[in-house]
Amino acid sequence: MEILLFDWMGLLVRWLHIVTAIAWIGSSFYFMWLDNSLRDYGTLEPGADGENWSVHGGGFYHAQKYLVAPDRMPAELHWFKWESYMTWVSGFGLMAIVYYWGAESYLIDRSVLDLSPATAIAISVASLALGWAVYDLLCRSPLSRYGAALFAVLFAFIVLSAYGFGLVFSGRAAFLHVGSMIATMMSANVFMVIIPNQKKMVAALAAGEAPDPALGTAAKLRSAHNNYLTLPVLFMMISTHYPIVFGHDWNWLVVALVLPLGAVVREFFNARNAGRTGNALRWQWPVAAALTIALIALTAWNPDGELAVEDEVLTAEALAIVQTRCAACHSANPTDEDFDEPPGGVMFDDAAMLKAHAVRVLGQAVLTDAMPLGNKTGMTKEERARLGAWIKAGMPDE
Ligand code: HEC
Repeated sequence: MEILLFDWMGLLVRWLHIVTAIAWIGSSFYFMWLDNSLRDYGTLEPGADGENWSVHGGGFYHAQKYLVAPDRMPAELHWFKWESYMTWVSGFGLMAIVYYWGAESYLIDRSVLDLSPATAIAISVASLALGWAVYDLLCRSPLSRYGAALFAVLFAFIVLSAYGFGLVFSGRAAFLHVGSMIATMMSANVFMVIIPNQKKMVAALAAGEAPDPALGTAAKLRSAHNNYLTLPVLFMMISTHYPIVFGHDWNWLVVALVLPLGAVVREFFNARNAGRTGNALRWQWPVAAALTIALIALTAWNPDGELAVEDEVLTAEALAIVQTRCAACHSANPTDEDFDEPPGGVMFDDAAMLKAHAVRVLGQAVLTDAMPLGNKTGMTKEERARLGAWIKAGMPDE
């Protein structure tokens, strides 16, 4: 029953999270594009600074941007905030279901740090709050006047956090926490700065006063950060399904490469939409390709080197290894209290079943430490090497 509930709650909340995130990112990309595309076609209203004509769904749209304020406040003003708030709420809900409810399996790795579920969950929640506090301080500090320097410090802070998470949580949870920490900053930017500042600007206009330009500048800075962080965050969120990435010993370096990779791709579209041409558009894709190659090369490299296996490993031994280390979860009747069915339908009850899953075993338990989940059963490096040697030798029975 519990697994049914766990899976259904996970599935429904994940569905909601993806839908709200699409809505948020979609409107964010749309407004970035709109802002960059504004020109003067000679059909501007008095007081407007730029306009855009578009066609979509069988009609024409004419948007105009007022940098200061329109002469009169419109009767109805549309706000964009629930997409962002609900993305955070559903994301935190999903984290609570998968990583807090399933803390023993997904959040904690006792070979990394021996934490109780309550302590691990407290660290997780505190780290999201702390991440925001540090980021917010940086943006309010004098550093905020130097855009590039602020970016560099922010980059260093995120990479350092990735390293820190790796000392506390399982690889998968560490990677997800980097994404969640950045996503929390982005959503808090909307909730704590962008929307409140816009409210103050609207109130000033309604009172017939000129709004404080610092309100707009602060909102713009946060909005620019959100724009460049969007693609890296998406990478971190989906890569929790890829042990080659989060399972790498130096997964913080993956973060250090993904941050500029995502930002540079966004930069291409920002520059192009702003009407830039020629050399202004030629550098982004080559840089992105070089970063991608570096990323792949990094994950192909094992910093510890491979453990040598001298003698031949036979099926009986390989089966004994998985039966000790994996069968608690992966058997027709799992004994692990978190699972009453074999996860992913993967079972190792006999040699034929093990052989059928050999390629995935290689990816999950030999090339990376993704399995056993949270290394709950204490699999050793030597056992991984022996299992790998058996698979690479063609799984000899005798
Ligand atoms: C504590 C429980 C647990 C243990 C022990 C465990 N696994 Fe898993 N395994 C899981 C769960 C849960 C999943 C589903 C993964 C997910 O939700 O992303 C899984 C999924 C898998 C998959 C499928 C991954 C895919 O391609 O989707 C393979 C293969 C696998 N495990 C191999 C192993 C091997 C090999 C061992 C032992 C060395 C092992 N597991 C030990 C819980 C466990």
